[in-house]
Amino acid sequence: MQDDYMKTPFDEMDLDYFQKPEIPGLHAGSMSEAQKSKDHYKKDGHTHGHLGATTCQDGHVHMHPGVTSTPIENEQGHFHHMKGNTSFDDGHIHQYETYTSLPIQLPGGYHTHYVEISTTEDDGHIHVIKGFTQPSKS
Ligand SMILES: [Fe+2]
Ligand SMILES: [Fe+2]
Repeated sequence: MQDDYMKTPFDEMDLDYFQKPEIPGLHAGSMSEAQKSKDHYKKDGHTHGHLGATTCQDGHVHMHPGVTSTPIENEQGHFHHMKGNTSFDDGHIHQYETYTSLPIQLPGGYHTHYVEISTTEDDGHIHVIKGFTQPSKS
């Protein structure tokens, strides 16, 4: 965990529920291993948009607009694969790849997922992406 990113209200929450789901044979955060899980995707189903800014490092932030994969199911529920490049700022981009949390129910039949990712190191630093995906119905 980095010590130079801004604390958010989520740092004070019990995040057990938000932890990345257990995926057999998958080492959390490993991009090459993450590739292997693509076989588990449903061919159809809902996705979630995500957008926002990374934490600030080295005097700049990057944006991370994108869309998650379709659902991946396990015994506890579903989650999504999320992968992309950040925007180009301060002369470079970063890459990120992770799995979302399990669903977090919202009013009206919608749900969201929590995500916390460290980007790749580029130009001598990494950024952190923390937040919730845009709501979607299952
Ligand atoms: Fe950067
Ligand atoms: Fe979902």
